[in-house]
Amino acid sequence: MSGPLVLGIETSCDETGAGIVRGHELLADEVASSMDQHARFGGVVPEVASRAHLEAILPVLEGAFAKAGVKPASIDAVAVTAGPGLAGALMVGVAAAKAYAYALGKPLYGVNHLAAHVAVDQLEHGPLPSPCVSLLVSGGHSSLLLVPDVTGEVQPLGATIDDAAGEAYDKVARVLGMPFPGGPPIDKAAASGDPDAIKFPRAKYHDGTLDFSFAGLKTAVARWVEARRDAGEAVPVADVAASFQEAVVDVLTRKAVAACRQYGVHDLVIGGGVAANSRLRAMAAERCEKAGVRLRVPRPRLCTDNGAMVAALGASIVATGRPPSSLGLPADSSLPVTDVLLH
Ligand code: KG4
Ligand code: ZN
Repeated sequence: MSGPLVLGIETSCDETGAGIVRGHELLADEVASSMDQHARFGGVVPEVASRAHLEAILPVLEGAFAKAGVKPASIDAVAVTAGPGLAGALMVGVAAAKAYAYALGKPLYGVNHLAAHVAVDQLEHGPLPSPCVSLLVSGGHSSLLLVPDVTGEVQPLGATIDDAAGEAYDKVARVLGMPFPGGPPIDKAAASGDPDAIKFPRAKYHDGTLDFSFAGLKTAVARWVEARRDAGEAVPVADVAASFQEAVVDVLTRKAVAACRQYGVHDLVIGGGVAANSRLRAMAAERCEKAGVRLRVPRPRLCTDNGAMVAALGASIVATGRPPSSLGLPADSSLPVTDVLLH
């Protein structure tokens, strides 16, 4: 295998990640998560995340070099998530990346977290087809993107107008008394439930846009559960989980396939933490096959936040010969998806 040897650093939310790739080959993917420290708050607390990044960043970086069997001096470039994300959390990664780049005399690439979620699929399935459509679903984002070139041209097609899909999972899990993050326990409970038991709303299903809305669904589930509890009835947790999950996945896959059809694209890439969801993977496979769309979903470990995805995008950018970022690179918490590389 050949290609640039790139270190990738990710600290945009609650995962401290350092990954090392050579071109599309994954050499190391070290992640420390501060999830446990946020669980009792039911969501990520920015200050707690920043402090945890500070403590984890050096051990995670050293772990990645050890795992890859690579000396820091032999890398070709350092890539780092410059945004979007939590400002204080991003700053830890950006500062670490600058320190490595400066000390080693290597170029620095400040990249977009969302584009990295798309680029990571190359580590599993090879070069991305051009163009492809990407469905990104995580705790912070639910977007549909048209991606002619993940290293430089990414166009937003639609996004959630309120809650992200993962956020809806986390909130519904709380209503059902499940731990944070809510995606995995709901996915698990849904396996023994009936997805048709309760007809929950599918917002924006027929509106002709590629946008999403999950706030109403979350409220509908909470009301339904409260009504059962007020009536002194038992809550059929598995059925609620399965019916809620069906509503989310139905809308996500319908719009993803619609985006492919609308733009004449034959390849769909799904990424972000919710892409680990078993029902989303199954329904996407079914609907893509029917629509003649090839589906690419990286393994769950690569779907959640990690440094390898940043390294994967960095390596693709280095390969194009684009100029690097300056050492004055800022962290931009609201970096638009169209800005793949920040200077
Ligand atoms: O991409 P990610 O690790 O971090 C963000 O950038 O947000 O995504 C985390 C989100 C959480 O909301 C979590 O509940 C959700 O991904 N998630 C899942 C599953 N695994 C994680 N949602 C549904 N099903 C899953 N199996
Ligand atoms: Zn993410």
